[in-house]
Amino acid sequence: KVYEATVTAPVNIAVIKYWGKRDSALILPTNSSLSVTLSQDHLSTRTTIRASPDFTIDRLWLNGVEEDINASKRLVNSITTARKLREALEEKQKQDGIPAESVVPLSQWKIHVCSENNFPTAAGLASSASGYAALVSALGTLYELPQTTSELSRVARVGSGSACRSMFGGFVAWQAGIADDGHDSLAVQVADRQHWPELQALILVASDKKKAVSSTAGMQTTVETSSLFAERVRTVVPQRMEAMKEAIAKRDFETFAEITMRDSNQFHAVCLDTYPPISYMNDTSRAVAGLVHAFNSARGRTAAAYTYDAGPNAVIYALKSDMRDLVELFTYCFPREDSILPDAFYPDPFSIF
Ligand code: DP6
Repeated sequence: KVYEATVTAPVNIAVIKYWGKRDSALILPTNSSLSVTLSQDHLSTRTTIRASPDFTIDRLWLNGVEEDINASKRLVNSITTARKLREALEEKQKQDGIPAESVVPLSQWKIHVCSENNFPTAAGLASSASGYAALVSALGTLYELPQTTSELSRVARVGSGSACRSMFGGFVAWQAGIADDGHDSLAVQVADRQHWPELQALILVASDKKKAVSSTAGMQTTVETSSLFAERVRTVVPQRMEAMKEAIAKRDFETFAEITMRDSNQFHAVCLDTYPPISYMNDTSRAVAGLVHAFNSARGRTAAAYTYDAGPNAVIYALKSDMRDLVELFTYCFPREDSILPDAFYPDPFSIF
């Protein structure tokens, strides 16, 4: 007897950054954040989970290689949380009068998890967001959980903060919440993928090396040492969240782009204000940012935006009508011989959805 579910979850790229936790165990953030979920076709994780009374231990394969599932507390936490939801469902089914022998005791069975990214892990692109979102969605499907996607995003959140946003497509806000138990810290969809089809994203791989300081460790040091950070959380982000939602609702690209760049810049400024300082962008990242501003000046409008996460790779947002020129510009300024934008540089701009 084997029960099985397969789910695919995409990567998301924040335009208002999550950086800082008020609770590290539950992964509760210091501020709300907002992201765009990319297309499943380009960067995503596909996860299959099987449950059987014949399995003796939980097992996990990542990109074909078996890993110790118990080595990661976050992984154990997310699986345990999903199992508890299934247990509650089985309990309810019994209470509702379903004969005990018809209630499948999936919560008691061990699972085998098989997870694969459709992009090279070496490209240095975040995989934990799509990874945990795929794991939790697959568990939700396998266990037939009645919870809404927002409710399930709380389970993805305990795996990795940014993962809660990958539970939805389109434009997604992670509401920081205020409760100590984290019940109000979850993802909500701000607009779906069809809302703004002209918006596209381009990923420029500036380096495929593993980052020196992990997001988890970096943001912890920032919370402890940066005074700029406190100001960002208190006044800047709340105002930007509102302005960003409005820009998305109106499909106002110029406002969307300016807030995106300003928020990326402030996030990296806060990293430099951390002690010891953290610097994720490199010379290539800065050259790309300069080029985007030069492009915008030449167009006489904000036609493109850059954003950088905890690494040097750029994500460029632009409308479809400007993307072809941008790709030409980047290809011209960063020829392949530089090995700056080789393999994961997509010659055709791809739709973010
Ligand atoms: C810079 O979600 O990777 O990409 O919650 O500790 O797993 P943990 O951190 P993670 O941090 C992502 C930080 C970021 C910004 C963002 O995605 O909002």
